[in-house]
Amino acid sequence: MQRVLFVCLGNICRSPLAKWIFLHEAGRADMLTHVEADSCGLGSLHEGEGADPRSVRVALQRGVPVEHTARQIRPEQDFARFDLLIAMDRANVSGLRRLGAPDERVRLMRSFDPSHAGREPPDVPDPYTGTPRDFERVFDMLVPACAGLIEHLRASR
Ligand code: 4NP
Repeated sequence: MQRVLFVCLGNICRSPLAKWIFLHEAGRADMLTHVEADSCGLGSLHEGEGADPRSVRVALQRGVPVEHTARQIRPEQDFARFDLLIAMDRANVSGLRRLGAPDERVRLMRSFDPSHAGREPPDVPDPYTGTPRDFERVFDMLVPACAGLIEHLRASR
C-alpha cells in the first residue's frame, strides 16, 4: 500500500480537489487497491468544514465524486503514516519543512506532471480569493499531475 497526503493551506480548495481527482483517476487506472490518499491543511482556520463550493462545483461538473471534512495536519501521525507529502505550492513546502517533515517525502504536486519534466515545476496557485474560472484552472492543472503521480506510484511498486 502506498499512502499519499495532499497538502495546502486551508484544506478546502486545492488539496481536497487533488484527492478527489487522484482517487477518481486511480480507480480508472485499476490502482485503488494499492493506494490510499488523504488531504490536510497547514492552517486550522477551516477545520471541520466542507470543501469550498467552487471546488465541489468544478469536480461535479467534470464527473469527479466529492466528499470532504477539512482537517489540519497532524505532524507526528501524518509524517509516520504517509509515504509522500504532496504540497500544492512552495509556501506549503516551507510549512511542511518547518513542521519537521522528512525532506525526501515532500514533493510539489506539479512535479508529477510529465510536461514539466526536467524543469522547476510551477505551483498550483491558491484560488481562494479568485473566481470560479480560477478553480477550473486548478482542476486542469491537477488532472495531469494526478495521472503522473499514479504512473509514478505504479512504477515504484
Ligand atoms: P486552499 O485555499 O489552501 O487551497 O484550501 C485556501 C483556503 C482558505 C484560505 C487560504 C487558502 N484562507 O486564508 O482562509
